[in-house]
Amino acid sequence: MKYDVTVIGSGPGGYVAAIRCAQLGMKTAIIERYNVLGGTCLNVGCIPSKALLDSSEHYHNADKRFETHGIGISNLTVNMKQMIKRKNDVVSQTTGGIDFLMKKNKIDVYHGHGSFVNANTISIAKADGKTETIETDKTIIATGSKPIAPAAFNYDKKRIITSTEALNIDKLPKRMAIIGAGVIGLELGSVFARLGTEVEVVEYGDRSIAGMDGDCSKELTRSLKKLGMKFHFKYKVTEVKTTSRSTTLIAEQRDNQKPLEIKADYCLIAIGRYAYTDKLGLENVGIKTDDRGRIETDAHLQTNVPGIYAIGDVVKGAMLAHKAEEEGSFVAEIIAGQQPHIDYNLIPGVVYTWPEVAAVGQTEEQLKAAGIPYKSGKFPMRALGRARASMDIEGMVKILAHKDTDEVLGVHMVGPRVADLIAEAVVAMEFRASAEDIARMSHAHPTYAEAVKEAALAATADRALHM
Ligand code: FAD
Ligand code: NAI
Repeated sequence: MKYDVTVIGSGPGGYVAAIRCAQLGMKTAIIERYNVLGGTCLNVGCIPSKALLDSSEHYHNADKRFETHGIGISNLTVNMKQMIKRKNDVVSQTTGGIDFLMKKNKIDVYHGHGSFVNANTISIAKADGKTETIETDKTIIATGSKPIAPAAFNYDKKRIITSTEALNIDKLPKRMAIIGAGVIGLELGSVFARLGTEVEVVEYGDRSIAGMDGDCSKELTRSLKKLGMKFHFKYKVTEVKTTSRSTTLIAEQRDNQKPLEIKADYCLIAIGRYAYTDKLGLENVGIKTDDRGRIETDAHLQTNVPGIYAIGDVVKGAMLAHKAEEEGSFVAEIIAGQQPHIDYNLIPGVVYTWPEVAAVGQTEEQLKAAGIPYKSGKFPMRALGRARASMDIEGMVKILAHKDTDEVLGVHMVGPRVADLIAEAVVAMEFRASAEDIARMSHAHPTYAEAVKEAALAATADRALHM
């Protein structure tokens, strides 16, 4: 078979790239090493983690908050097997949707491990041991990422686990130790903490969600501590040991080497992910990678080999599904001769804990470091009627605007449904709005979105109305 474009990897980067190529009239193939399409995001990432976050949030509300609403429940139980089954159903409905989209767009799907024979020939090693070869004019590498698991952590997939295994625990653990207070550690940690597991997080840095604004980190850590999660900051985990039923995490204080040992049923390793290019045959075509194993590309996401592109987690930048998707469309349009654009500064970041955290643009720390003059407007969720009605009073919205021009430079939120609210900030910043532009727009009452207007008022002239 000969294709205009072959995409290797069917995650949100790869399948979106394939759809866009097909929409633009190219004969397109997609290769996926697993039997199911959708990549990390749909199978062991975004979708299953959100399904469990939603289920555990329902339980937590029933257990801790319904009574205040005047709703009584007796004999509340957690049925982990059913929770995992529902999660699996959500995953299969979602991956089934990708099968449909491939058919609809007449994209040929190959299941097997793809690797370069040369720049225009790709070999596909199938599960039954057979190999198939296809010819292609252009190739898009979208092979994604895998969890980092250092040898000293003795990752055994049973008791010492990564997010992939954590999403399938069907008996509620009594104790869980987590290495890393990043996005995965906090999202999955909160799933188990809500259900009643004692969760302890060990983090090398000074604070949680390190890349995000310091105020968001403070608010979120406070809120997760209230949920019962314990944090050990400035501790470096050096080793994890296991017996068949339990684990021991060994760490030392970063600055004074004070030792720390935590025993738990499971130890979840959540210290980041690495670009996945195993057995891809990059050496057969001479594709360059950087010091972190990520495929190097130019501004058009083309590798050093003409006609071969790379997108998503396997290249530099945030490891986010929507970033991978944007790059998928971008590359397809570049191949079609168009002139697309991605503003990486406006890719939002979200942590789906409760309260949620969402952000776009620059953090206060980044503005300070760059010496950019800015002003800040902040508004607490607790001052909103909507938040009091729903009992979701934790969090705030912070808008950072240029001190002289009033242009919005960054928006940082902690609170209910801020994962959805951040879209308003992205639109505003895409159109280079000033804080005053947002402040003068009508926001429906009562909504959580009123916090955005109020923060913009506070940033404009320190004139929030309800504070
Ligand atoms: P992937 O989704 O990793 O897909 C790559 C695919 O390529 C895989 O299916 C793989 O099997 C296949 N492949 C690899 N090599 C080959 C080969 N040689 N031949 C054939 N196929 C191959 N991001 C968000 O934006 N929001 C979230 O809420 C979110 N939650 C997450 C939760 C968890 C627990 C995890 C682990 C990640 C989460 N992410 C989230 C990150 C998100 O999943 C990734 O950024 C996204 O999946 C990257 O997409 P991708 O297409 O680059 O790669
Ligand atoms: P992360 O990079 O977010 O956090 C890892 C943390 O582990 C860091 O704070 C780091 O200091 C700490 N750490 C590293 N080594 C350590 C050690 N030896 N001892 C103690 N602490 C140590 O990585 P995480 O949480 O694994 O997530 C990986 C990627 O997945 C993220 O980059 C994110 O983009 C993506 N993701 C996105 C989600 C979302 O968008 N909601 C949800 C889940 C994952």
